[in-house]
Amino acid sequence: MRRSVWNWLFLLSSFGLGLLFLVLVFQETFPEWKMVQGEYYRRLAQVTGDPSKAGTPLKILQIYLPEFHRTDRCITCHVGVDNPRMKDQPQPFRAHPDPGDPEFLAKHPFNEIGCTVCHQGQGPATTKRHAHGPVPHWEEPLLSKELVVGTCASCHQNIEGLKGAEPLVKGMQLFREKGCIGCHTLHGKGMLVGPELAETWRKGVDQFDFRYIHGDETVATWIREHFKDPQAVVPGYPALGIPESAMPKYELTDEEVNLLTALVLSFASEEGDEGRPVPARFKVAAAPQPAQAYSSKIEQGRGVFEKYGCMGCHGIGGRGGVRNKNMEMAEEVPPLVYVSDGFSREELKETIRKGRYPARSDPSGPAPPLWMPAWEQKISEEELDALVEYLISLKPQ
Ligand code: HEC
Ligand code: HEC
Ligand code: HEC
Ligand code: HEC
Ligand code: HEC
Repeated sequence: MRRSVWNWLFLLSSFGLGLLFLVLVFQETFPEWKMVQGEYYRRLAQVTGDPSKAGTPLKILQIYLPEFHRTDRCITCHVGVDNPRMKDQPQPFRAHPDPGDPEFLAKHPFNEIGCTVCHQGQGPATTKRHAHGPVPHWEEPLLSKELVVGTCASCHQNIEGLKGAEPLVKGMQLFREKGCIGCHTLHGKGMLVGPELAETWRKGVDQFDFRYIHGDETVATWIREHFKDPQAVVPGYPALGIPESAMPKYELTDEEVNLLTALVLSFASEEGDEGRPVPARFKVAAAPQPAQAYSSKIEQGRGVFEKYGCMGCHGIGGRGGVRNKNMEMAEEVPPLVYVSDGFSREELKETIRKGRYPARSDPSGPAPPLWMPAWEQKISEEELDALVEYLISLKPQ
């Protein structure tokens, strides 16, 4: 190569380096948070009519929470969260909303609990990108608005009737209706056909397969996409005989997907944050639940059917429709509507106590992923009696 070309290259690279240096110096002198805070004080001066506010010295502001093992610097940019005069400003200058309860802010003093206990995000970070995430090596990016409610459970042991937590109550209704507990355990209760759901949100992104996910590599995104289509997210390895997900694909609306995703987050929150537990004095204990009263044995049995999530596999009201690949007959878990034709009361009880593995449609194919679990360790005789009466009552007159 000719000498002049080398000269030009050298000149160009020196120029590049110089530019990089200038950018770095600029970032050091005017970091993002200084720009945001400066703008905040200018707006404050306008709102209060006190021009001296605009000259407030800029500094990193933080809430130090040794009890929570957290330091939250969110207020470095969100300076106005506790200033009601800033309620009409755009984000990030706006005062904090009260989710439908004027007492909300008083009951949750930010200087005592910070921000990340509810919002997640990276507390100590001072750039928006790192504070909000997602960024590598930080497992808890800022929760989207619909999911924040999931963390209320880290302090509130009873969500029923708690203002602002209505989405969790709705999510729990769905959870019962669909019989999720027939296939999953929650804090150890239920059936381990699918994973324990209190662990899901705590597992960390590296425990999930993102190959079939469109969007951010976050636990929230994975769970959302999985609810929309479990088989698309967990297709298995057909070539190795590993079947796709056995979880039913529910026709959920986007709102329902959010409700269930927030619910799964709340299950993990109840367990507490391993490294950063919520101190006991911030826990709000659950009120004792009154025992449910039933008008008849059949009604009680319907409650037992729901309690153990039988409809998770046998469909709502035992009407069937849940796929079970390579199971004999229709490749579906059998409906229960006509069991009174084929089984005596005692036979029904034995089936429920002992469980059964279904036969394969193609004997050389993989085992059907869903089986009838044995409930004898879990269910009481009284519950079993009522359950059987309910099953018999399912037959249309
Ligand atoms: C460097 C400045 C900065 C820091 C630090 C910061 N934020 Fe923000 N935040 C912003 C800006 C700017 C917005 C305005 C909306 C946007 O640009 O996304 C915002 C918006 C938000 C929103 C509204 C999101 C939305 O989609 O409307 C929430 C919630 C939030 N921040 C929470 C936090 C929490 C919690 C922390 C601490 C972990 C934090 N922020 C730290 C700058 C910051
Ligand atoms: C006790 C839980 C809790 C704490 C603590 C908390 N927030 Fe919030 N935050 C919420 C809830 C719930 C909402 C949603 C309110 C609504 O429905 O509009 C919210 C909303 C917000 C929004 C507006 C989001 C939007 O979409 O417009 C911002 C910004 C925000 N919080 C920042 C903060 C910052 C900064 C802190 C710490 C100083 C903080 N929050 C502490 C629960 C909390
Ligand atoms: C860090 C723990 C903590 C978190 C997280 C938290 N709260 Fe609270 N909350 C409290 C405490 C403590 C009280 C005061 C209880 C009392 O006065 O008896 C309270 C009180 C309340 C109250 C007043 C009514 C009552 O039952 O006392 C409401 C409503 C409320 N919280 C809603 C929420 C919602 C909604 C969320 C989630 C966005 C949430 N809280 C998250 C600790 C928390
Ligand atoms: C994890 C899935 C799953 C759950 C949950 C489940 N079952 Fe089953 N159940 C099955 C499968 C699969 C069969 C078919 C077994 C076979 O073909 O041998 C079955 C068979 C039955 C049968 C025999 C029906 C027939 O026509 O052969 C009864 C009765 C029954 N289940 C009742 C219940 C009750 C009551 C509950 C709740 C306590 C329940 N099941 C929960 C999967 C499940
Ligand atoms: C018929 C059984 C069955 C029912 C009913 C069922 N699931 Fe699943 N679920 C599974 C199986 C099997 C897996 C593991 C394979 C997979 O990831 O798809 C799973 C996986 C999951 C996962 C991923 C968990 C993790 O840690 O990887 C979540 C979250 C989940 N289910 C939530 C639910 C919820 C909520 C419901 C009720 C709306 C529900 N499931 C109903 C069988 C079921």
